[in-house]
Amino acid sequence: AFNLRNRSFLKLLDFTPQEINFLLERSVDLKKAKYAGIEQARLKGKNIALIFEKSSTRTRCAFETAAYDQGAHVTYLGPSGSQMGTKETMKDTARVLGRMYDGIEYRGFEQEKVEILARYAGVPVWNGLTDEYHPTQVLADFLTMMEHSDKPLRQVSFAYLGDARNNMGNSLLVGAAKLGMDFRSVAPASVQPDKQLVDRVREIAKETGARLTITDDLESGVNGCDFLYTDVWVSMGEDESVWKERIDLLQPYQVNAAAMEKTGNPRVKFLHCLPAFHNRGTVIGEDIFQKFGVEAMEVTEDVFESPASLVWDEAENRVHTIKAVMVATLGS
Ligand code: CP
Ligand code: NVA
Repeated sequence: AFNLRNRSFLKLLDFTPQEINFLLERSVDLKKAKYAGIEQARLKGKNIALIFEKSSTRTRCAFETAAYDQGAHVTYLGPSGSQMGTKETMKDTARVLGRMYDGIEYRGFEQEKVEILARYAGVPVWNGLTDEYHPTQVLADFLTMMEHSDKPLRQVSFAYLGDARNNMGNSLLVGAAKLGMDFRSVAPASVQPDKQLVDRVREIAKETGARLTITDDLESGVNGCDFLYTDVWVSMGEDESVWKERIDLLQPYQVNAAAMEKTGNPRVKFLHCLPAFHNRGTVIGEDIFQKFGVEAMEVTEDVFESPASLVWDEAENRVHTIKAVMVATLGS
């Protein structure tokens, strides 16, 4: 087996395909053990800090329940209330928390921050989302694909539609490149991942056999796909003033019944990391939908609520995959 002990989990670029597959296999094992009621606690006596400079439902709750299942204790540090980022630098905070905790989860803005935290804390640090990457989400997405496909991941085709320049667009691109998948980033050129990242994943693809397509053409982009994936058009930390231009730009890339149909695959499934703007049922959604006179943003209600939608399995899988990351890097 692979030894990931004491490693941080900051971005998928830092991991080999074998290591990523190992984490997915561990996730499968841990999920089975939990369902069978025979899970073994490998994080007994460990103290874990959960730092959230942005809001979270899934990531926080997945880290907490996974930690408790494994016998660890957690401290939640929210966007306010600590000295971090105001009275104290990340470098100093890292050295303090490293003396008290055995592992640290961090959700924030710049990727650089979580990298500094990992460099100075001296204990494993896990990225719970930054502006650039959301690597634990990709593990849950890939586990969900494994569960809903009769093919190995390297034979799976999937397309990501919408804001492909955000943390999910970047992370799925890297994950697909690493695991040798057929991945299409389907979006206007202005919201495709950075050229530097694209060049880097193309190098990775040469080794793994991944087929990576960066295109603004919906028709060919989704053709033959097993899964369509989308995410919000405006991410946490972005200015709300960009809604109008994003709606205008990304409307053609909405995942709706027509887009699902265009895959030509009657068994195509839908994925979304959540939270999703599929109807007006959110406080922020209410104003924005009204203001721009739209019924749905990145995904329509009919697709979101259809049997093809795997979003709740995907959310549950956050627990099993995050648990695998913590156990592999910190477990006894
Ligand atoms: N998918 C995800 O990370 O959700 P939260 O923002 O609720 O953690
Ligand atoms: N791109 C989204 C993902 C949320 C899990 C955001 O950063 O807000």
